Amino acid sequence: MADLRSAQWYAGNDRNAYIHRAWMRRGVPGTAFEGRPQIAIANSASDLTPCNSHLNEVAESVKQGIWEAGGVPLNLPVVSLGETQVRPTAMLWRNMAAMATEEMLRANPIDGVVLLGGCDKTIPSLLMAAASVDLPAVVVPGGPMLTGTFRGVPLGCGTDVWRLSEEVRAGTLSEQAFMDSESSMIRSRGHCNTMGTASTMGLLAEVLGTTLPGTAGLPAPDSRLLARAHETGRLIVEMVAEERRPSRVLSSGSFRNAIIALAALGGSTNAVVHLLAIAGRLGIPLTLDDFDEVGAGVPLLVDLQPAGRHLMEDLHRAGGLHAVLREVVDLLDQDALTVTGRPLVDYLPEAQIWDREVIRGRGEPLQGEAGIAVLRGNLAPQGAIIKPAAASPHLLRHRGRAVVFDSIEDFHARIDDPELDVDADSVLVLRGCGPKGYPGMPEVSNMPLPAKLLKEGVRDMVRVCDGRMSGTAYGTVVLHVAPEAAAGGPLARVRTGDWVTLDVEARRIDIDVPQEELDARAPSQAMTDGLARPRRGWEELYVRTVMGADTGADQDFLLGSSGHEVSRESH
Ligand code: FES
Ligand code: MG
Repeated sequence: MADLRSAQWYAGNDRNAYIHRAWMRRGVPGTAFEGRPQIAIANSASDLTPCNSHLNEVAESVKQGIWEAGGVPLNLPVVSLGETQVRPTAMLWRNMAAMATEEMLRANPIDGVVLLGGCDKTIPSLLMAAASVDLPAVVVPGGPMLTGTFRGVPLGCGTDVWRLSEEVRAGTLSEQAFMDSESSMIRSRGHCNTMGTASTMGLLAEVLGTTLPGTAGLPAPDSRLLARAHETGRLIVEMVAEERRPSRVLSSGSFRNAIIALAALGGSTNAVVHLLAIAGRLGIPLTLDDFDEVGAGVPLLVDLQPAGRHLMEDLHRAGGLHAVLREVVDLLDQDALTVTGRPLVDYLPEAQIWDREVIRGRGEPLQGEAGIAVLRGNLAPQGAIIKPAAASPHLLRHRGRAVVFDSIEDFHARIDDPELDVDADSVLVLRGCGPKGYPGMPEVSNMPLPAKLLKEGVRDMVRVCDGRMSGTAYGTVVLHVAPEAAAGGPLARVRTGDWVTLDVEARRIDIDVPQEELDARAPSQAMTDGLARPRRGWEELYVRTVMGADTGADQDFLLGSSGHEVSRESH
């Protein structure tokens, strides 16, 4: 018992131990406090996070496993972020959710934690929290929803919303048909079924080694998810006994593996800011350039929307994550561990591809090079990214005149104006959408195209923005431009009519304006006037202390770990 952290609360016969125990006696046996590991279930179930609403059931299975292995399960509801509901963007609250979870894990008599997440920001915030408190921690990803169909055709969550709404604006789909598809989009419990951010982060949680191997990608309604949750409950008790903490499980090799998997899966660009932020909590040196270097030459093997055709249920049926990883096993760090104490690569030899339409073999990839490309230039001195797998090949090298928007409101007000001076070669530039500017770095970078060009059949244009884009989106979008315009980045000084050159192969994004002239220009007044200026609360703290997208958009004061020690008693 003396070894358990929770013994600092529960052991002994003094007044404080009495208080800590007495209030917890709500029908549990007295032995619950006699040297048994206290396991929190950090549970992001919430009716306002519909993708996570089933996690209470998952938690019940986790609890059974914990009791069975001799631990004591404790449900800990955490700040939960529903990607589709939260304004101005769930990303504004990711770091707050991480901070709140970290502090509650530290403040309470907890020896280990099971992290239940699903919807986009929930797994990243939980992993950031676990890294900063450094208690043994394991993720159960909530899993994707089943495939819904509309008029006989599968609907991809998110991706098909973007596609169908563009069809309406192009005049090729009726508004009624669009509305009719709404009730078909979400077929079951679970998170988005495309290779969006939730799918990506659930799978990468496993690649990082933070899930029971073989769990990520199981559809949310699949009975096997509950069985895995039960086993995870048993595992966390073992992890506590072995002191298998995030600082011992996660290494730079784990992050290299995640970057390789991100490329092979065709995963979300949002994984870049999330992985950088998690690494920052662990003190593991990971940079934007690592995404380009480590991911270089990794082929795209998974034919899932938005880069391809299929959906998460298909990926699982086709062999799942392990079948994909087995194809690139020679690239993986062979020593990177999992929460079981064994390396990730130990779990791959049995994996097989059952459907080569969905998971391609290494010899017949969908694309030879699928990694995130990191661009630099006078428009993005600290970097910007593009996902070539989701872009149009003919636009990867492009020169066009900028059409600049000073805010998302400015964009919406003018984009469909028939008088707007824009053609298919123009480059749409949107600024003031970075972490500080919006605030929170929303998913607005995949700007809808001008209706008049959609009607002419244009389906993609080069777009440049300091915000993010939904992991379910596609297009030739240069995003996460750093420094952001609101932090004085050169994006604030671009003018409509400037020539913009994108050259993905050369990893460049530039405007044809001499540096002295660019430096001499004043930042756009309209953009500056439109920036958020919160005066109190989290938003004020966020804007004051958030760092750039190029380092993960964490708060400066939340970098690193404080460990799990608590200095003082409460009485
Ligand atoms: Fe929750 Fe897509 S909205 S995962
Ligand atoms: Mg999203």
